[in-house]
Amino acid sequence: DTIKPTIILVFGATGDLAKRKLFPAFYNLYLDGRMPEKFEIIALGRAKKDDETYRSDVSNNLTAFSRNKITSDKAYQKFASHITYLQNDIDQEESFQVLKLKLDAIDLSFGERGNRLFYLSIAPSLIATISNNIKKLDLAANPEQDRIIIEKPFGYNKSSAELLNKLLSETFEEKQIYRIDHYLGKETVQNILAFRFGNSMFEPLWNRNFIDSIQITVAEEVGVEDRGGFYEGAGALRDMIQNHLMQILTMVAMEAPNSLQADEIRNRKADVLKAIRRITPEEVKHYTVRGQYDKGSIKGKPVPGYLKEKGVASNSNTETFVAMKFYLDNWRWQDVPFYVRTGKRMKEKQSSIVIQFKPVTHSTFSYGKEGMMPNRLIINIQPAMDIRLQFMTKKPGLSLSLKPAEMVFDYFSCSTQSPEAYETLLLDALQGDPTLFMRSDQVEEAWDVVTTIQEAWENDKFSSLYQYEAGGWGPEAANELLARQGHTWASNTLNKVEQEE
Ligand code: BG6
Repeated sequence: DTIKPTIILVFGATGDLAKRKLFPAFYNLYLDGRMPEKFEIIALGRAKKDDETYRSDVSNNLTAFSRNKITSDKAYQKFASHITYLQNDIDQEESFQVLKLKLDAIDLSFGERGNRLFYLSIAPSLIATISNNIKKLDLAANPEQDRIIIEKPFGYNKSSAELLNKLLSETFEEKQIYRIDHYLGKETVQNILAFRFGNSMFEPLWNRNFIDSIQITVAEEVGVEDRGGFYEGAGALRDMIQNHLMQILTMVAMEAPNSLQADEIRNRKADVLKAIRRITPEEVKHYTVRGQYDKGSIKGKPVPGYLKEKGVASNSNTETFVAMKFYLDNWRWQDVPFYVRTGKRMKEKQSSIVIQFKPVTHSTFSYGKEGMMPNRLIINIQPAMDIRLQFMTKKPGLSLSLKPAEMVFDYFSCSTQSPEAYETLLLDALQGDPTLFMRSDQVEEAWDVVTTIQEAWENDKFSSLYQYEAGGWGPEAANELLARQGHTWASNTLNKVEQEE
């Protein structure tokens, strides 16, 4: 589909996200012929820079971070000619007047009023000022054409998210606001819907009658890197659970949408968030485990503990690991535990979903030394991108004993290169499709789920924060959380479990 001429305004254009994700995404969309025929990118930042310097910075960043590299200077210049840099003081109205003139000039060159896509890649504390200035100068006056993308974290807790929603609603209609959660742009996360609702054989089993428990893991090898200042005020619950993990959970647990219409899908997801059982402060200890990484080693390389990281207080009680259990109070999922965990400085980078089915009703066979393995469906989100079905099969040989086997669908076997999450999401925003973005009620509902936990942890400072060795799978308490119900964290491939033969 052709997209109307568009002006993209990137606030925070000299920041990390712009460097690593946004410009590589624009560049790759451009190479794929997916950018609008006419477009201009205005990069806004506090520093003084001319266009040439900024374009050459972008070129260096593409070399470092883009999946498609620059093949020739000439090819790059064509893309770069769409980018201009504008020095901007966010709290100065004059800066926005200069911007307005520039927007008008670009519209004139388009020969029509173009669409406008505002990308706020800036600290959350600056959103209000920018939004107010956009309103004052009427820069986003056309609800059909103008959109704003807001990065996470969206608020700090439920009340701040509500305030932020209210504030944005003074300038924008809900349909103009695109709250991004980049996990929703990941190929394998989107495939959850295709897998569940594009096939007839899985959905009949997708409920409490057949499913015993569900696990969602998002493990990272990296530590806080140079984001200590930000992370200190966030922690894993706010940084990962409230958004990425709960969004994955909604995709796994939602009812079938009637259509792919944006609000239809978003309603079904909101239903899941509403169904999540709210726990009492007394239950928090029983349902959650929080950890902080200590020194250790990742792939043989020694790494410091969290308290030694730049920008981190030496007595910090910020969690870098969370494991917890959710229940959904509805017909489909009553009493099925959803275990989720996420952590930094874990053994390996791995995001996966494990659907564990109930055991056979009556056990007829004898099993090898590992015994019976439950049927599992494993969806590997990253870096492995595959779907695995694990089942028992006859062990070849004269005796009738069983062993686990696995059927694998590997994404890489049908595609050599997947688009990055930001490419998918930016293209959707350019086209005006909000399906994969979060609506205000979803964000507030997700905050509501974690509120009690946030409060309990704040009031109960150090007592329940476990140290875990960098390079492992988190504190032992995370294993105990599952062991209480006879479960263990499952490995994401059979190879890792199967030592035999
Ligand atoms: C971000 C978090 O939203 O997601 C980071 O703020 C985290 O702390 C990152 O590292 C993980 O994203 P990905 O795509 O690398 O799994």
